Amino acid sequence: MCGIVGYIGRRDAIPVLLEGLRSLEYRGYDSAGLAVIYRNRLQVTKTAGRVQNLRDQVNDRAKATIGIAHTRWATHGEPNDINAHPHTDTAGRIAVVHNGIIENAEQLRDALTKRGVTLVSDTDTEALAHMIAAEATGEVSLEDAVRRVLRHVAGTYGLVVLDTQNPNELVVARNGSPIVLGIGASEMFVASDVAALVRYTKQVVYLDDAEVATLHASDYRVVSLEEGSRRGSDGSKVPTTVEAEADDYELGPYEDFMRKEIHEQPEALRRALRGRLDDRFATARLGGIDLDARQLRGIRQVKFLGCGSAYYAGQMGAVLVEELARIPSDAEPASEFRYRNPVVDPDTLYVAVSQSGETLDTLMAVQELRRKGGQVIGAVNVVGSAIGRECGHGVFLHAGPEIAVASTKALTNMAGSFAMLALLLGRVRDLSAADGQRIVAGLRALPGQMEKILAEEEQIAEVARRFAAAEHMFFIGRVHGWPVAREGAQKLKEISYVHAEAYQAAELKHGPLALINASMPSVVVVPNDELVSKNISTIEQIKARGGPVIAVTSADLPPSLADAVISVPAGEPELDPLLLNVPLQLLAYHIAAKLGRDIDKPRNLAKSVTVE
Ligand code: BG6
Repeated sequence: MCGIVGYIGRRDAIPVLLEGLRSLEYRGYDSAGLAVIYRNRLQVTKTAGRVQNLRDQVNDRAKATIGIAHTRWATHGEPNDINAHPHTDTAGRIAVVHNGIIENAEQLRDALTKRGVTLVSDTDTEALAHMIAAEATGEVSLEDAVRRVLRHVAGTYGLVVLDTQNPNELVVARNGSPIVLGIGASEMFVASDVAALVRYTKQVVYLDDAEVATLHASDYRVVSLEEGSRRGSDGSKVPTTVEAEADDYELGPYEDFMRKEIHEQPEALRRALRGRLDDRFATARLGGIDLDARQLRGIRQVKFLGCGSAYYAGQMGAVLVEELARIPSDAEPASEFRYRNPVVDPDTLYVAVSQSGETLDTLMAVQELRRKGGQVIGAVNVVGSAIGRECGHGVFLHAGPEIAVASTKALTNMAGSFAMLALLLGRVRDLSAADGQRIVAGLRALPGQMEKILAEEEQIAEVARRFAAAEHMFFIGRVHGWPVAREGAQKLKEISYVHAEAYQAAELKHGPLALINASMPSVVVVPNDELVSKNISTIEQIKARGGPVIAVTSADLPPSLADAVISVPAGEPELDPLLLNVPLQLLAYHIAAKLGRDIDKPRNLAKSVTVE
């Protein structure tokens, strides 16, 4: 995914655009660019690399009050100065920034080439600039020209159009990629995410798919792509107030967002629990789930769908649902689910899990479910996101903005939300009030227990530094510990680029044990449950073959059992995975820090992938 920003108003546009790009850089960071109208002409600056490169190159003496900007995660055309956005038409009249994928780009480019247009980049987006310029002639307004062109476009887009012949307006369109308008006093903002505008205004309007908006400094209008009819008579286009604060997007005392977000987990989890725990009935209240007790009882199975860490959080949810509600539950990568032509079961509750709410594979899985009449709820962090809208009901994660590409606090709030879902489903079935109360108390204790783990960060960092030279690492767990091991391996891979594999403990002896040797450390996750002795023998098996072991545990293990033992407070066994996950985040973080990695912006990754 890319990040786009637009501004029209009374301020100097370039600093606003650069600041906006800086806060959206987590969305894509392989090239960047901006365009403003200065002395009735387009002034375009674009470059491969980070926003800082752009800041160094842009001529900020150009005092302009309207402009657009873009930070890229390349899909069509490699990251370089030419393929960076904005893209313009040959005459340099129209400039376009775009987030998404135009599926029929080849045909559009061929048609332009046949018409004698010279395309200078390899991108899908450039075609739009030429087509809009060709359409916006005579009486045709820029808005109508954009609408006419987009009727020929297949694919996803969030885009902003700048036109030297209409220097007092920006035209914006959305289909599949997020677009939010920021409503100011005599100024308007547009961006892929509120991060780019929350420091200027809290009044926002989310565009829906197939909507086009025209912004002037002091007003805006939203119309439908097809008819051009005005949108919002139902009040849907009246500004709403966002929760986020500008500081949420600042590092504060931290050197990077990942460490900041790891340390924000206790407070983030408190927010997710707030107002949702019911002591009287020893259950949870999830007001966003539009199912009554009878419908909840009618659910025969729960299936979690997500990508990356969201999938592993879903696995934690499945263990909790089976344990507390005693109904079958599992998790599946959303991409796998949607492509295998799934048999959708009417009595199954599907949970679409996504921090960003924009991950395309998960969105398409939801659309496949809705097409087949499946009952699906969302568990998303970003309000106004596509998956949240598509599901229509579900659980907001309240983790606050998550900027670092590797997910931490959002995953914790996913697992916390799933513990509450499991509690709710359990208490409309046979989970006793005593057990319900035990889980309610256990959930309330989690933030404090996490604070204790975070206070031990330096000890965990010391262990990380001891093993940072390893080229490979195993992560091992069973039942409660299995999804934790998988997420632990994911974190290490994502940010340190160390090859890491997760295995179910009992599977080791059926193959992977062959790889154990002195240079292959294993992280063994040992929850404080009925399988402690089994996990101890797993550690002994590895040690017997000369493999170094880091034990991460909520049980009472002899310190000599492993090369390093990282202990966490023992909570309710069902909830231990949420605690055991934190040391693995810190382990990955401090190994990556030791290796000098760019922790917030790991190579080849993006915060959410809006392409297939
Ligand atoms: C990847 C991110 O692109 O998408 C991961 O790098 C994330 O951190 C995964 O877990 C899924 O994203 P989301 O937003 O759908 O939870």
